[in-house]
Amino acid sequence: MKIRLTINGNLYERNVVEHRTLLRFMREDLGLTGTKEGCGMGECGACTVILNGRVVNSCMVLAVEANGATVDTIEGEATGPSLSEIQKAFEANHAVQCGFCTPGMVMSVKELLRDNPRPSDEQVKEAVEGNFCRCTGYTQIIEAVMDLTGRSAEKGGLKHV
Ligand code: FES
Ligand code: FES
Repeated sequence: MKIRLTINGNLYERNVVEHRTLLRFMREDLGLTGTKEGCGMGECGACTVILNGRVVNSCMVLAVEANGATVDTIEGEATGPSLSEIQKAFEANHAVQCGFCTPGMVMSVKELLRDNPRPSDEQVKEAVEGNFCRCTGYTQIIEAVMDLTGRSAEKGGLKHV
């Protein structure tokens, strides 16, 4: 099936088999490898992108379902060598260690801040609860978002289950 979709402002038109996920389509057919594949089962959030304005796990969306859609991925964040404000805040607050979760985490934060420019700690935790991070303990991620919004994180960070 031929599909057309816009990713980070660029229009792509490709033939795709019907069972191909949006994640595999982006990574393998388009070479957009910034979005990561972790579990492939909708549980880890590594593959998070913004599809028509809402975060989704792209491993759980078929490419054909994204026909006609607008998608934002981590590749759309930096402008040339300049990181986006979210990326800068992550870097400044040591919220990136191995970096595997970071593309998905940044997309979840992006959606949160678009809807709610001054989230509470609790709202940040809720926004990233679907994004597993095995390295940071989440505290630095929350601090990065609070830093970005001009406030300090409350003590305690996020205990992830
Ligand atoms: S790879 Fe999609 S949720 Fe884990
Ligand atoms: S920084 Fe390694 S999984 Fe989050």
